[in-house]
Amino acid sequence: MKKIDLMYKTSEIIAKYGITESRLKEYLIQQNILVLNEDEISTKNFQTILPLIEKTEDRIEKKLKKAEASYLYNTDKNKVSIYQDDAISFLKKIPTNSVDIIVTDPAYSGMNEKLKLGKGRIIGKYADKGTENGKWFGEFEDTEENYNIFLSECKRILKKSTGHIYIMFDSYSLLSLGNVVRSHFDVKNLITWDKVNIGMGHYFRRRHEYVIFATNQNTRKIKNRKFPDVWRFKRIHSSKYPTQKPVEVFQAMIHASSQEGFTVCDPFLGSASSAIAAIKNNCNFIGCDISDKSIELSSLRISEYLNTGKDNLQTKSMAVDDNIFWE
Ligand SMILES: C[S@@+](CC[C@H](N)C(=O)[O-])C[C@H]1O[C@@H](n2cnc3c(N)ncnc32)[C@H](O)[C@@H]1O
Repeated sequence: MKKIDLMYKTSEIIAKYGITESRLKEYLIQQNILVLNEDEISTKNFQTILPLIEKTEDRIEKKLKKAEASYLYNTDKNKVSIYQDDAISFLKKIPTNSVDIIVTDPAYSGMNEKLKLGKGRIIGKYADKGTENGKWFGEFEDTEENYNIFLSECKRILKKSTGHIYIMFDSYSLLSLGNVVRSHFDVKNLITWDKVNIGMGHYFRRRHEYVIFATNQNTRKIKNRKFPDVWRFKRIHSSKYPTQKPVEVFQAMIHASSQEGFTVCDPFLGSASSAIAAIKNNCNFIGCDISDKSIELSSLRISEYLNTGKDNLQTKSMAVDDNIFWE
């Protein structure tokens, strides 16, 4: 049977990827790319123009102008911007094929369900800090349908040539949603984050969480083949923001997958631990969170870190082993 070669229309590429017509035309001539029927290029030739599409670095800023940035920071090394928005609505505003790495720790509603006892109370010291109906924070609706929409948006914005994604899961959400990740990305490993100190739980007290690591159809390797798939970083006690994760967890992800100048995205920002990790790795960062408290604490944390090098929400390292990740 004759294989049909899919065609890409240049007009659609211009609209979808936000590059100018003249720049695309110039590139097609430079690369000797054949244009058929005045407006069409083959799949193979589309692969050749991916580097051009991915290089247009101000595309994210231009497109996100439509969204209202809560805070923007610009230094010699880092561009950091955070937005108050719902994760899916935020991802929809980001251009296709524009982000190198996604690292994220979603607020699965299943987890909060499990943490409710008896009449649906949240237990523990954050119980009185809730903003919405006594909940810690707004939750992401973690039905399979919504999760599929979330993942397809992540896939769309991740660059094809470099895109890596790290998604955190507790045991409940891993069992219900972990397999969905496979229908969008090439899952390469399931990492265990060992929190060293024991937590709560009636049937075997919890001491770990998971991270799914996957690529966006590329074969780009991580930085070092020595990195193990069990990470030991102490959990944070008495944090100002509930569910604050150690910066080291995100540093391990970003360090393994980044090069200087990469763009990292976290659509469930929380207290901005991922943003601090991106800055430490000389990457640019874009992130969002739905909660007022998150944006307020994150902006203070990021600006103080950029100005003084001090992290006001995590004053000491949570690493316990000799650190093979960024020695
Ligand atoms: C598990 S916490 C992230 C904690 C973060 N990794 C840290 O280290 O601080 C999840 C975050 O998702 C936010 N969130 C909940 N629903 C959301 C939604 N629909 N869109 C964006 N953020 C949401 C919550 O406000 C919360 O800050």
